[in-house]
Amino acid sequence: MGQHIGILTSGGDCPGLNAAIRAIGKGGRDGYGMEVIGFLNGFRGLVQDRTVELNDENLSGILTYGGTILGTSRDKPNRMPIGNKSRDMTDVIVDTYHRHHLDALVCIGGGGTQKNALLLKNAGLNVVTLPKTIDNDIAMTDVSCGFDTAVSIAVEGIDRLHSTATSHNRIIVVEVMGHRAGWLALQAGTAGGADVILIPEIPYRLERVGQAICERTRKGKRFSIVVVAEGAMSRRDAKTIERLADQKRGGNKRERQKASEQLSKFHEAHVGHTIELTKQLEAMTGQESRLTILGHLQRGGTPSAADRALATWLGTQCVRILAEKHVMLAVRGDRIKPIPLEEVAGKKKFVPPDHPLVESARLLGTSFGD
Ligand code: F6P
Repeated sequence: MGQHIGILTSGGDCPGLNAAIRAIGKGGRDGYGMEVIGFLNGFRGLVQDRTVELNDENLSGILTYGGTILGTSRDKPNRMPIGNKSRDMTDVIVDTYHRHHLDALVCIGGGGTQKNALLLKNAGLNVVTLPKTIDNDIAMTDVSCGFDTAVSIAVEGIDRLHSTATSHNRIIVVEVMGHRAGWLALQAGTAGGADVILIPEIPYRLERVGQAICERTRKGKRFSIVVVAEGAMSRRDAKTIERLADQKRGGNKRERQKASEQLSKFHEAHVGHTIELTKQLEAMTGQESRLTILGHLQRGGTPSAADRALATWLGTQCVRILAEKHVMLAVRGDRIKPIPLEEVAGKKKFVPPDHPLVESARLLGTSFGD
């Protein structure tokens, strides 16, 4: 009798999730005689015991679809909104897992999912995770499903904005996603030939960004494309964050709590910072400026060929090595390596400021505002 496995997708959706579900489902059923069920809407599906049997019918034709046929949510097992309260539902999840006689639970998700998976491992479940996020910021893996597609969508946006920026002699600021990491902005900005790229890992000085644009004008280039990661920030803001993060780590319980609240408020207030940045650049350079926020466009639609292949590889490897529990399957070069969840959960992968792509872009005249 084959093993019973459950699959869920959790956190923000991204292209490639259905390709991964298909690979696990078909690979598990056809190759290993497994019974595969999907839980709906992330960890909430385990609490509500909302499942769907994955079979030939619903696994067919989904390779090219964006989103996730299982639905997703950002719910955490230990802090789940129930009514107007936040409750620890870990025990309920453990019961559901055993009720379905599962041998393993496969969680496809980003950084938050790795933490939630570790929590369930500590509650006694067999958990395996696959990395997905357009942010590409999951620790220990070279790449995550969804990143390649998001880069392509952002580059297409930048290409289109280039022609209108040139025609109107404007500065166009393009905000891309990426959460607190700059991978998406760096990759899309470099591929799109951005004149300025701002990423969180290299805090910028506004005057330097203005200077870089004025320098272009002096050379006869009457437009500029400024690609900004949603988490990019000025040096002053970066110092404030560093101070609050230090306070959050040290001090007594009350001070830590206060710093944590201030930090959350700071990040909330930072959303939409590119509106102000665009106005500042217009005032500084005297050049008409416009802002485009690409937002959730970057997460929608058909996965790229590379993401389909990556999701298929990760999904099929997952059913092959299901005996390895409590790991995330990481991409390391041309191999997939199981990494203990403890080494991934709670960590993030940031762009090293001396990353080769940063150096390439600098050599070609791109400013990072530093
Ligand atoms: O983690 C993926 C991501 O798209 C980030 O780039 C972005 O900061 C966040 O999710 C947006 O989340 P939501 O879909 O909840 O608005």
